[in-house]
Amino acid sequence: MSTPPDPSNFTSILHENRVFKPAAAFSKSAHVSSLAEYKRLYAESIRDPERFWGRRANEELVWKKPFKQVLKFKAPDAKWFIGGKLNAAANCLDRHLEEDGRANKAALIWEGEPAPNGKPGEERTFTYRQLHREVCRFSNVLLRHGIAKGDRVLIYLPMVPEAVIAMLACARIGAVHSVVFGGFSAQSVADRVSDCGAKMIITADGGYRRGTIVPLKKNVDDALRLTNAEGRLIAASIRSVIVLRRSNHDIHIEEGRDYWWHRELEYVGDRHEAAVMDSEDPLFILYTSGSTGKPKGIYHTTAGYLLYTKLTSRYVFDLRENDVYWCTADIGWVTGHSYIVYGPLANGATVVMYEGAPNWPEPDRFWRMIHRHRVTVFYTAPTAIRAFMKWGDEWVKKHDLSSLRLLGSVGEPINPEAWMWYHEVVGGGRCPIVDTWWQTETGGILISPIPGATPTKPGSATLPFFGIIPEVVDDKGDKVKANEGGKLVIRKPWPSMLRGVWGDKQRFRDTYWKEVPGSYFTGDGCRQDKDGYFWIVGRIDDVLNVAGHRIGTAEVESALVSHHSVAESAVVGRPDAMKGQALVAFVTVKTGIRATQALRDELRNHVAKEIGPVAKPDDIRFAEALPKTRSGKIMRRLLKQIASGNEVSGDTTTLEDLSVLTRLNQSEE
Ligand code: WTA
Repeated sequence: MSTPPDPSNFTSILHENRVFKPAAAFSKSAHVSSLAEYKRLYAESIRDPERFWGRRANEELVWKKPFKQVLKFKAPDAKWFIGGKLNAAANCLDRHLEEDGRANKAALIWEGEPAPNGKPGEERTFTYRQLHREVCRFSNVLLRHGIAKGDRVLIYLPMVPEAVIAMLACARIGAVHSVVFGGFSAQSVADRVSDCGAKMIITADGGYRRGTIVPLKKNVDDALRLTNAEGRLIAASIRSVIVLRRSNHDIHIEEGRDYWWHRELEYVGDRHEAAVMDSEDPLFILYTSGSTGKPKGIYHTTAGYLLYTKLTSRYVFDLRENDVYWCTADIGWVTGHSYIVYGPLANGATVVMYEGAPNWPEPDRFWRMIHRHRVTVFYTAPTAIRAFMKWGDEWVKKHDLSSLRLLGSVGEPINPEAWMWYHEVVGGGRCPIVDTWWQTETGGILISPIPGATPTKPGSATLPFFGIIPEVVDDKGDKVKANEGGKLVIRKPWPSMLRGVWGDKQRFRDTYWKEVPGSYFTGDGCRQDKDGYFWIVGRIDDVLNVAGHRIGTAEVESALVSHHSVAESAVVGRPDAMKGQALVAFVTVKTGIRATQALRDELRNHVAKEIGPVAKPDDIRFAEALPKTRSGKIMRRLLKQIASGNEVSGDTTTLEDLSVLTRLNQSEE
């Protein structure tokens, strides 16, 4: 299925040999204070993982009923904390009121985007008690609308506190949430509803994005009208839509189906007893792109996910009672789930949440916020860091960032140049950087420095978290030697690993457990250096990472060929200085169709309609035919080289028609 990565991809990190030792001042009060201590804890965690996790689960989570057994694993199926009963939302809220004395501590500090009319961004703060109350009230709204344990609820909201409230309310009543990022289209909403059989959609009239309004409710209306090839409604399972008022623009309200959030609250009380859930009850489904077909519904269950995100939040971000923690991810991606909502709130942390874009209204928006809220821990993506580098140091230097003590990075490999800039300009040379590697499927961070303990090397995610056994292997599944490239696999189960692909057991097996039998296959290429440090090179399957967003090439191809002008298409990535990777689509048009600039624009918009603006190709290159092997497989490697502007190399003699290649090279109008 996948081949080990091309070593030429390593160039920028192959020669990286700078090492940054943790500062003594940081280590002194860190949760783990030395590399030796990390090694001791790690060794303990893998010597007897069940004992390690069992003890942690008892210490960290509030149980309604204790579990009987820590783990049952028969690849690919894992069950953790068997027989245990608990509630994830109660672990994030109630416990802080009852036991831990955090009732009046800020749980969420939210800043809105300035409205298009220039009205400054609103600010709202929720203490743990207030957040608890809002979640209880909204839980009662869900119940009033007939949402029961196990029902699926789709959440399609902007980055507003209500997104967190809706997620936690689902968890509280035992419903399974599936959050859909606001950058996805009506079609994507409908497909996801249909895949998981959701009964309800929670949305807003609109969301703000760089001074415009994202018409979320209109997208939902469109989604609910879409039909499949047989003329049946795709999202037929939806009974009701709850609409939050945010942008205040005119929208359609369908009697008997659509209900305003604020009106519904009038009918309910603020008391709610959290549902008693099993450790292995599903907590959420999150759709993510794979190398084939439509996005898959990755699902996570309750206890293992919560324990793992709680512990990683505490250790990787070195969370302490007085931290002001800000993760800039959108709630529609897994980072928002694990490290805005469940992990930090389970720790009783103060979380900052921001609705808008980093450069709106000006490129210092983030730094202004760090300054104003005295943010101490800041977690963002390399693509944002590279953009800030481009916008210039002066935007950063305008603000006092002395409150920062720790910086994090996630979503794609961070190039050493960006790492160094982040370290020096943002972190003032004093903040450790945690480059955290993980995936939607892994639920939480698997490879990352432990600040205060792990010496860091720019560009490396460094060492595994407790209980995690990653290995770099060859095609046969054998461990490769130090510094050799290979596939990254995880050898043993961990509490927050995905439990499956919703409704598709076979796809779960095929995607993750077939490549290297008995191990979880990540889809990433990697190299481990002689110190045991992991250097992730990026995806080796047909998944691209564009500005930290996961996009499947197959999905974009199928969107393109669904356009009446397109005969065939192949989508590949090319390196992009800003976004990490950019999407290049090679397209052959049907006979009689003219390949024009107008068609190019139309196709880009068509992809936005089918999948969402996030998946719009950066380049569309028309070709008379696509290069194929004799067996008819598109030669992607060749297309990648052409897309990157590299000299075409390697064995091309299997090409059906070499002249196709020449024409492709000239295909830019
Ligand atoms: C990539 C995001 C290098 C990787 C949490 C992975 C990274 C995919 C890193 C998952 C990192 C994430 N260094 N690559 N620190 N973090 N990736 O599911 O290719 O949206 O497989 O989860 O992002 O993306 P996903």
